[in-house]
Amino acid sequence: MVQINQILDNKKQFLKLLLLADEQENMIDKYLLRGDMYVLDDAGVKVVCVVTDEGGGNFEIKNIATDPLYQGKGYGKKMIQYILQHYQHKGHTMYVGTGDSPLTIPFYESCGFVISHQIDNFFIDHYDHPIIENGKQLKHMVILKKSL
Ligand SMILES: CC(C)(COP(=O)(O)OP(=O)(O)OC[C@H]1O[C@@H](n2cnc3c(N)ncnc32)[C@H](O)[C@@H]1OP(=O)(O)O)[C@@H](O)C(=O)NCCC(=O)NCCS
Repeated sequence: MVQINQILDNKKQFLKLLLLADEQENMIDKYLLRGDMYVLDDAGVKVVCVVTDEGGGNFEIKNIATDPLYQGKGYGKKMIQYILQHYQHKGHTMYVGTGDSPLTIPFYESCGFVISHQIDNFFIDHYDHPIIENGKQLKHMVILKKSL
């Protein structure tokens, strides 16, 4: 049975999954403590997600990762649907930032997000090594949003 639970303690136990979405640990440390962590369990952990309160009714998905063995089975979308419902009455907009990548933008669009804006050179300025996805170096962060 699919269950989504909030994790309050020892969030680093899910580091392996978190690193799939954000491969530099000191960048994860910037939001892990203040972020709300959720884990989708279906006979074992399948998805982890971290959401932060950015103030003024704005929330942001800082990290979401599905276990590679279970990607493409609808688990990621289930997590996003849960998050959108959970924060519905807590604010007005959910944001998510991602690389300019064909692996992630269609996922968020299929969950109802639309592109909001771009932060130029985010992955160059904030990471200590080139982030390569799908054979291409990520430079800019694309921010998508969805009304809550
Ligand atoms: C992105 C990620 C979280 C998606 O999770 P998932 O469990 O595989 O996604 P789902 O199976 O729930 O897919 C939901 C929808 O997104 C679509 N989708 C997912 N990945 C996609 C891709 N790479 N390209 C196109 N569409 C994709 C699915 O087709 C599905 O669409 P549908 O509902 O219309 O059929 C997962 O691939 C992942 O963990 N990737 C590595 C970490 C990462 O990059 N995280 C995001 C950082 S910004």
